[in-house]
Amino acid sequence: EKVYSEQLLDRQKTLFEELQHRVANNLGFVSGLLAIQASRLSENSEEAAALHDARVRLETMSRVHRRLYDPMNTNMCLKTYFEELCADIAMAAGRENVEFRVEIAPVNLEIEKLMNLSLIVVEVVTNSLKHAFPDGRGGVIEIFLTKAANANACLLVIRDNGVGFPEGFDPAASKRLGFRILGGFMRALQGEMTHANDGGSVVRVSFPS
Ligand SMILES: Nc1ncnc2c1ncn2[C@@H]1O[C@H](COP(=O)(O)OP(=O)(O)OP(=O)(O)O)[C@@H](O)[C@H]1O
Ligand SMILES: [Mg+2]
Repeated sequence: EKVYSEQLLDRQKTLFEELQHRVANNLGFVSGLLAIQASRLSENSEEAAALHDARVRLETMSRVHRRLYDPMNTNMCLKTYFEELCADIAMAAGRENVEFRVEIAPVNLEIEKLMNLSLIVVEVVTNSLKHAFPDGRGGVIEIFLTKAANANACLLVIRDNGVGFPEGFDPAASKRLGFRILGGFMRALQGEMTHANDGGSVVRVSFPS
């Protein structure tokens, strides 16, 4: 009986890995489709730029997915995970003079939550890299994940020491995609997000753990 259940477990593992590969491959496929569509548009058009952005988001998602569901990573350290994610984002943005500081409290998060958190980090950190340090100046981006005073909640804080949000910035009124996408992640996490300026931009996300 023991042999049988081991075989079963083995088979389940293989199936699971196979499934994850397929999901990742499908994301890659869609990204390829977008590239083909983009190649039919004139290079500097707004439409081509939008398709390019969509592609970059898909590819990041696919990388996050690969990393999170890699069976080698089941015991991964969250700090290392987020550091590598940041290094990825910085590389995609072509920024080398921005330093990352990552502090992660020991928390136990379901992979689904981690996926949402990762995508939030991707949007917010990408924003810092894109808007906080104009003219290629360097800076620091900090990412903290802590347990809230109320032990059933977690707090994610992402701050930079850049120029800060524009005066009177209202994400709800923004026509850009970034903050709208973040709104979607908040719903998925049942979380709440606030933004502020304090020596740079600060984004806080609290969510039930
Ligand atoms: N870290 C930051 N520092 C300064 N300004 C910021 C920062 N993050 C966001 N912003 C401002 O908030 C605006 C909205 O951000 P949002 O992510 O929604 O759009 P975006 O980054 O311009 O475009 P995209 O849809 O590609 O994300 C930005 O255009 C920028 O003006
Ligand atoms: Mg953005």
